[in-house]
Amino acid sequence: MIKAFLETAAPRGANVVLLLEIAMGIGLLLGARLARKERFRQHAWCQSAIVLLNLAVVTVMMIPSFYVYVLPGVPAKLGKAYYALATTHGAFGAVTELAGLYILLSAGTSILPEKLRITKYKVWMRTILVLWWVVLLLGMATYTRWYVPHLFRK
Ligand code: HEM
Repeated sequence: MIKAFLETAAPRGANVVLLLEIAMGIGLLLGARLARKERFRQHAWCQSAIVLLNLAVVTVMMIPSFYVYVLPGVPAKLGKAYYALATTHGAFGAVTELAGLYILLSAGTSILPEKLRITKYKVWMRTILVLWWVVLLLGMATYTRWYVPHLFRK
């Protein structure tokens, strides 16, 4: 498993991002458990740190890669898994990250006017957690399609 991971054609940056994203996905699940245990302060810190760290990773690593490797093939090459996976992942990823920031602003600050703040926190947070994991799995699928070519040539 580890050998297969090291033998992929992935650049080091992609491997670091993959590991970071898996850690963040697990971190959000642990953060959700904190809320269930009614440790709301720790829950808020944990989830906010992950949403902000992810914003940095997406901005620095994923969006530039999307512009260079994916966008030139949209929409002409969307029939190919390489482009389709990355585009679906990017679209859902953008919605998820923005929704995460919206929850953070609503719950953790008073920046937003009262009218725009969320009231049904539980539904929002649970939905984003599920969406986040869908995006994470799509990211892993993108990684596999882009960098583990021997899986596709046999
Ligand atoms: C919740 C938000 C997101 C999560 C959890 C996430 C997760 C991941 C993961 C695990 C990978 C595989 C590692 C890698 O190949 O670098 C990846 C790759 C990628 N993601 Fe995301 N992502 C998110 C948002 C986005 C957004 C908003 C975009 C673009 C608009 C995007 C575009 C990409 C691209 C193009 C790759 C391939 C990068 C490369 O290897 O050069 N992602 N993502």
